[in-house]
Amino acid sequence: MAKAIVLQGSSGFDNLRMVERPVPHPRRQEVLIRVRATSLNYRDVEIARGSYHTTFPLPLIPLSDAVGEVVAIGDEVTRFSVGDRVCSTFWQRWVAGPFEMAEASNQRGGPRDGLLSEYALLDEQAAVLAPRNLSDLEAATLSCAGVTAWHALVSEGAMKAGDTVLVQGTGGVSLFALQFAVAGGARVIVTSSSDAKIEKAKALGAFVGINYRSTPEWGAAVLDLTEGRGVDHVIEVGGPQSFSQSLKAVHRGGQINVIGYLGGSEGSINPLEIFRRQVRVRGIPVGSRASFEAMVRAIEGNDLKPVVDRVFPWTDVADAMRYLESGAHFGKVVLAHHN
Ligand SMILES: NC(=O)c1ccc[n+]([C@@H]2O[C@H](COP(=O)([O-])OP(=O)(O)OC[C@H]3O[C@@H](n4cnc5c(N)ncnc54)[C@H](OP(=O)(O)O)[C@@H]3O)[C@@H](O)[C@H]2O)c1
Repeated sequence: MAKAIVLQGSSGFDNLRMVERPVPHPRRQEVLIRVRATSLNYRDVEIARGSYHTTFPLPLIPLSDAVGEVVAIGDEVTRFSVGDRVCSTFWQRWVAGPFEMAEASNQRGGPRDGLLSEYALLDEQAAVLAPRNLSDLEAATLSCAGVTAWHALVSEGAMKAGDTVLVQGTGGVSLFALQFAVAGGARVIVTSSSDAKIEKAKALGAFVGINYRSTPEWGAAVLDLTEGRGVDHVIEVGGPQSFSQSLKAVHRGGQINVIGYLGGSEGSINPLEIFRRQVRVRGIPVGSRASFEAMVRAIEGNDLKPVVDRVFPWTDVADAMRYLESGAHFGKVVLAHHN
């Protein structure tokens, strides 16, 4: 038997319960992993507390992001061997190509069972080798936040040296974007609610920061900091209200990657602003396995280390979710699976 944590009955962190289930057997083209570490994304917190835009049937094993060791393989597995260290992918069928290759019903952590367990099955097409330069705790951070940042800036955005990138806040997605931008020779402007976090972001390579609480009209401040030119790429996680600032901050023909709505989902946008500045606005749905694999090459080639803010035992997932919800973190919140 193996332990797993399920959200059962109804939403709410107190409804995350430990259960025992038989260790699953890998079927054709599946691998069984012993999970070594998982990480939290904002989505996981929303699903657990019941505020996510979609409701999933319960019971549900949460979390999309894990790293683990392959301990058994099913028939006709060709991509992995026992002993390999692999990361799960967010989308189970989106190997490469356009987004229509993904299937909405095939995301781990909802609606499909996630990885908050001792053992988990992965389709061999929905896993990648973990970067060799990362610890288990670091490798567990990549599947959602890392791939989202990479897909936005590199796969879709074709970012190049000399570009300017604006990242909003200092959560998982934004700090990955900061690190990929710096590694790619771009200049990074970070916004944050905290001056102390801005200093930490500068230590990672951001050239300047703006406090979006004390400077709510930060779009104008970005123009001042860029000699009126504006930024080439925006990592937009704030929602409609920050979007209006992003439209002010972006260079003509620049790109806004619409990723999250941390500041709320209500607000109005004037499409003429998009037209006037010839802005390219794009929704980002995490990314494909091909994006993940390209990101792994960059992480290994540049020896990039994800920013792990805090590690909890996996059995303390409710405390970890409350911590993420508080917004105190800088980077990723990780769960260690001791087995
Ligand atoms: N579309 C996708 O594929 C995709 C993938 C991953 C995540 N997301 C979404 O992207 C967002 C970020 O995810 P995450 O996992 O990086 O979250 P996270 O790690 O929890 O990051 C949250 C951070 O964002 C900042 N923030 C909070 N409210 C903000 C606001 N109104 N404006 C600007 N920044 C704000 C805060 O940084 P400071 O403390 O520095 O202020 C906060 O610490 C979430 O909405 C998530 O659902 C979407």
